[in-house]
Amino acid sequence: MDLDIEFKKLIDNCSFIFYATTFEGQFLYLNNFGKELLGITEKEIKNGINVANYYVSPEDREDLLQQLELKNISDNLEIRLLDKNGKIFTGHEHSLVYPDEAEGDIILSLVNDISEFVSLNLNSAKLNLELADANQKLKDAYNTMAQQEKMAAIGELAAGVAHEINNPLGFIKSNTRSMTKYLKMLTSVFKEILKNPDLEKIENTGEMDFVLSDLKDILKENEDGLNRIAVITESLKRVARMGDENVKSDFDLNQAIMDTLNIAKSQYKYIAEIKLDLGEIPLVPCNGNSINQVLLNLIVNASHAIESLESKEKGEILIETSLQNSLIKFSITDSGPGVDPAIKNKIFDPFFTTKEVGKGTGLGLSLCYDIIVQKHQGRIWVENCDKGGAQFTFTIPMYKV
Ligand SMILES: Nc1ncnc2c1ncn2[C@@H]1O[C@H](COP(=O)(O)OP(=O)(O)OP(=O)(O)O)[C@@H](O)[C@H]1O
Ligand SMILES: [Mg+2]
Repeated sequence: MDLDIEFKKLIDNCSFIFYATTFEGQFLYLNNFGKELLGITEKEIKNGINVANYYVSPEDREDLLQQLELKNISDNLEIRLLDKNGKIFTGHEHSLVYPDEAEGDIILSLVNDISEFVSLNLNSAKLNLELADANQKLKDAYNTMAQQEKMAAIGELAAGVAHEINNPLGFIKSNTRSMTKYLKMLTSVFKEILKNPDLEKIENTGEMDFVLSDLKDILKENEDGLNRIAVITESLKRVARMGDENVKSDFDLNQAIMDTLNIAKSQYKYIAEIKLDLGEIPLVPCNGNSINQVLLNLIVNASHAIESLESKEKGEILIETSLQNSLIKFSITDSGPGVDPAIKNKIFDPFFTTKEVGKGTGLGLSLCYDIIVQKHQGRIWVENCDKGGAQFTFTIPMYKV
C-alpha cells in the first residue's frame, strides 16, 4: 500500500480544510473540502489566488503569522472565513511552518469547523441570560410576597392590639358610668349635709357604704386597665421607632422580646403560657426592625404548633436568651408536636408550608433565615426537644459587620 496516496485521499476527502500557502498567502495546495466550501477552483490556485481574501478579519491572519514567526507552530486559533455563499465559517486553525526545498518556508494548515459549537455556545449564553432573567423575576416575586406577608402580619397584629386595648377600654368606660352615677349620689348627700349640718338627722340607708367600697374597687380596676394600655402602647412605640430596614444599631434583644410578646398577645394568650429565662446580655449591633420580625414569626409559629395539637389545656412557650462567648443566643421552645424529621430540611425554604391555605404562606422561616444568616452573619436552626416540641435557636455575632 502506498501510504502517501492513501493519506492524500484521506486529506482530500475529510471534512477539514487542509491547505498550504506561502508566507505571503498564495495557495500552493487546498484539499477538496476546502475548495468546495470556499468555492475555489484548481485553476484559481494555479493562478496564485491568496488565502487572505477569505479571512473575515485580516487580524486573524496577522495573528497566525506572528505566532508562526515566534515558534513555527500555532494551535487552536479561532478564525472566521467567508464561504462561497458569503456566509461566515468559524473554525480552529492549526498550522506549522514546513521548510520546503523548492518553495522555501511554507505554511501547512488544518481548519476544523466549530460553527456548531459556536452557535451552541451562543444558545447556552442566551439560555443563561434567560435563566438569570427568570431568577431575577422569581426574586422580585419573592420580595413582593414577603412584603405582602409583612403587611398581612401587621394587619393581623393591629387587629390583635386593638382587641387587647379594647378590653380594658370597655371596663374603664363602664366603670366611668358607675362613677358618674356614684358622684351624683355623693353630690346629693353633700347637698343634704350642707343644708342640714345636723348629721344625726341624715338617714343612712347603707347604700353609701356600698358606693364607697365599690368606688375603691373600680378605681383600682381602672388603674390596672390603664396600665395594660400603657404597656401595649409603649411597646408599639418602641417597635414602630425601629425605622430603616438596613441600618444596624445597638439593640436590646430582651426588651424587644417583651415588646413583641405584648403586641402579639392576642396570637397566643388562649393557647400558651409564656415562660421567660432572659439572661444578662449586652446590647447587640443589629437591625431592630428585622429582628423583631424574626421574633414575631417564631412566636406565632410556636403558638400555631401548640394549637395544632387541639388540646383543651394551654401549652407552654419558653423563651431564653444568653451570651455565649461572642455570640448572642436566642431560643424558643414550644410544647407542640415538633418538626417532622422528613421536612426538617425544607422548612426554611421559601413557600414551604404545612398549614392550610389562608393560614400560612410558608415565607416566615425563609425570611428569618435571610435576616439572621444573610443580614446578620448569624445561624438559625431547629431541633426537637426530648419532650417532643420544637426548639428554634438563632445566634448573632456581637461584633459589628
Ligand atoms: N414551632 C414549630 N413546630 C413545628 N413545625 C413548625 C414550627 N415552626 C414552623 N414549622 C413548620 O415549618 C413550616 C414553615 O414555617 P414558616 O414559618 O416558614 O411558614 P408558615 O408558618 O407555614 O407560613 P407563614 O409563616 O408564611 O405564615 C410550617 O408550615 C410548619 O410545618
Ligand atoms: Mg410562620
